Amino acid sequence: MGGARAGPGERFPRAFTAGSQWAFWVTVGISAGGLIATVALIPPEQLQHVEESAAVAWTATRKEAFGAAAASSSRPGRGCSALMSDKTPEDHWRRTLMKARRKVAVAGATGRVGRHVVDVLKTGGHDVVAMSRSSGVDVITGEGLAEALAGVECVIDVATGSSPEQEAATEFFATAARNLHEAGERAGVQRMVVVSIIGCDRFTAGYGAAKVAHERAMLSGPIPVRVLRAAQFHEFVAQLVEWGMQGKVSYVPKMRTQLVAARTVAQALADLATGPESAPPPGSSGTPILEIAGPREESLVDMAKLLAARRGEPVRIEGVSDPADPDRDLYETGALLPGPDATLAGPTFEEWLDAGEHEP
Ligand SMILES: NC(=O)c1ccc[n+]([C@@H]2O[C@H](COP(=O)([O-])OP(=O)(O)OC[C@H]3O[C@@H](n4cnc5c(N)ncnc54)[C@H](OP(=O)(O)O)[C@@H]3O)[C@@H](O)[C@H]2O)c1
Repeated sequence: MGGARAGPGERFPRAFTAGSQWAFWVTVGISAGGLIATVALIPPEQLQHVEESAAVAWTATRKEAFGAAAASSSRPGRGCSALMSDKTPEDHWRRTLMKARRKVAVAGATGRVGRHVVDVLKTGGHDVVAMSRSSGVDVITGEGLAEALAGVECVIDVATGSSPEQEAATEFFATAARNLHEAGERAGVQRMVVVSIIGCDRFTAGYGAAKVAHERAMLSGPIPVRVLRAAQFHEFVAQLVEWGMQGKVSYVPKMRTQLVAARTVAQALADLATGPESAPPPGSSGTPILEIAGPREESLVDMAKLLAARRGEPVRIEGVSDPADPDRDLYETGALLPGPDATLAGPTFEEWLDAGEHEP
């Protein structure tokens, strides 16, 4: 056996190289069942990435798995995405070993969820191409798209237009999907991951119907696509309060929702983009659609009140139901709530507020 390289400030994990042909990655840890040792054979060109990722994982899992997140172990959780099932640093390192460094493009990189996707991917050691109009890439006109996708293996689509109206949003998503598939195919992109909304297929109008059109347009292109439907983001509550403002009153929709942090959704999207799972076949509309939501059901009106109180804003929140909306009953009857196989992951809205994540 050749050289031994020290792990991230600990005795283990360590990498041992044997000549220039092979590298072994060794982790040792203690679990409830006793001492665990794992040895993995990895290509030497992946060694630096594995070591960097393990350093990040070590810091993150010590802080989260054994700190704040340990307290969350009592939170309900099902279906678990890969990261969220990590219970120990060994789990995280094992999964890290299964991942290769990838070049991933993010459409909508500056948005509520897009900025977290970029950060999560960079933290995981991946090469990231951040695409948005502010960085000179327009998924509607196609400007800058071919250049941005050169050498990219996976695209994560979290772009959305400025209008939530059905017609404008449908037009945006159909055009963006067509351009991403066309430019992506020319560039050799192997898979795409797109975020959608839980329950959108029950809506006959509005933005929900536009998201169904978005899913269909993405799934019918030549590049294999995975769809992840998410619940409303914690970050979206402030937007709804702002949209509903009339004087000192904000009228927000009466809605049952299982709010989820954009960061949590970003992690799941990054896992789908970079994980070892084989991509579904192109045009795979039969592939199960995945769902991710927060740990518990909330009332949007109550969460909006909580947000306003935390911000110390003198705004009164009123719950409303839009008589002009043909789907208005769906908001109150739980159509936006996750199904039984959804991944549920924290923080709750209140924990997210406590952590100060809502502050600019
Ligand atoms: N918000 C929620 O609660 C929620 C819940 C579930 C799913 N989703 C889905 O998640 C996705 C992202 O939502 P979000 O709330 O994060 O959106 P957002 O904050 O409004 O961000 C939209 C992003 O799209 C980019 N963009 C807009 N037009 C573009 C164009 N022509 N070319 C390239 N980029 C463009 C924007 O950057 P520039 O303006 O710089 O171009 C921005 O980065 C959407 O598909 C939405 O349906 C949202």
